[in-house]
Amino acid sequence: MAEQLNLPQTNDRKARYTALLPQIEALVAAETDPIANMANTAAALREAFGFFWVGFYRVIGDRLVLGPFQGSLACTRIGHGKGVCGTAWAQRKSQLVPDVDAFPGHIACSSASRSEIVIPIFAPSGEVLGVLDIDSDRLDDFSEEDLTQLETLMERIGAKLF
Ligand code: SME
Repeated sequence: MAEQLNLPQTNDRKARYTALLPQIEALVAAETDPIANMANTAAALREAFGFFWVGFYRVIGDRLVLGPFQGSLACTRIGHGKGVCGTAWAQRKSQLVPDVDAFPGHIACSSASRSEIVIPIFAPSGEVLGVLDIDSDRLDDFSEEDLTQLETLMERIGAKLF
């Protein structure tokens, strides 16, 4: 498929996810390399929604290690249970953070980040392989709609990312 996204004119997030998810699925289905797939998934999500930072952290040993991302420089290693990403890993649960300053232990890679959403990615065995992390420079930018759509996307393509 062409390396170009077809997105609706509307800014309605649900409509954009509806158009975007099958395109990301098709992109990663056509490629076997997990790094390439993480990179294009991050790029597609950033292009579709203009988020400040979109990227992946992979579980390597006892740390989450920075993977492919779109955005400014980020911290490279995060401990189990640390920050929003490490909490998603430890609790095995997505984290929707409307105000990062109100999240105890939030790791500020950039002072521009105001809200954040983190989705854990599971192996078929149940272990956490890594997380998808998205930062917005707007307060309260993520809703249950984002949570549901992004969890669905990670369930569908997670196996092509690791
Ligand atoms: N804020 C994250 C750290 C990663 S950066 O946002 C890219 C956290 O608290 O885990």
